[in-house]
Amino acid sequence: MFDHRLITQRLMLEPVREEHAALVFHEMNDARLWRFFPHLRPMSVADLRILYRKWQAGKSPSTPDEIWENWICMRTEDQTPVGSTQATIFADQTALIAYAVYVRFERQGYAREAVRSVLEHSQKAHRCHKIFAEMDRRNSASINVVRSLGFTPVSDGGNARDIAYELAL
Ligand SMILES: CC(C)(COP(=O)(O)OP(=O)(O)OC[C@H]1O[C@@H](n2cnc3c(N)ncnc32)[C@H](O)[C@@H]1OP(=O)(O)O)[C@@H](O)C(=O)NCCC(=O)NCCS
Repeated sequence: MFDHRLITQRLMLEPVREEHAALVFHEMNDARLWRFFPHLRPMSVADLRILYRKWQAGKSPSTPDEIWENWICMRTEDQTPVGSTQATIFADQTALIAYAVYVRFERQGYAREAVRSVLEHSQKAHRCHKIFAEMDRRNSASINVVRSLGFTPVSDGGNARDIAYELAL
């Protein structure tokens, strides 16, 4: 597997490793980050470590055609982790992205900066032609992130709770 480290103006996106769990758990241990998906919240460093170990493998044993790429976003100037982002790349060269910025670093443009580099990477490295993102309809922060990058709502996508956005590359 190739190294998918990404560099932006202010961030280094480091491929996730299980050792990152101890570094970022205190930032992730905040209910505000999990407001729209509390069932996904890791409750301990050990839980997070298990998750990151799985992601570090880069693919799921049950869906070997999918590539999983997960990054911890570090601020370049002081190596502080500010959030994380991920892309699941499917065999049809589409991808599903997700992202989080730790609460004390919100509203500084980090999500948009990180996601933009993931979009460029998905196109260059994986020849993706379409990117999707799904979120709770009430998650206006997340909706504004994708809108500001040119995503539009999928006409018949989503369900009562979630909405899907897409971007053709
Ligand atoms: C969604 C999230 C990643 C946004 O991160 P962020 O770094 O604060 O976002 P940015 O600073 O890059 O902002 C991008 C745009 O969203 C807007 N935005 C950010 N937070 C917002 C909020 N709470 N309410 C409304 N708009 C918001 C910004 O104003 C900006 O839009 P603009 O350029 O038109 O002003 C962050 O709030 C988060 O991690 N939330 C919890 C996890 C989550 O919901 N992830 C998404 C799941 S798909």
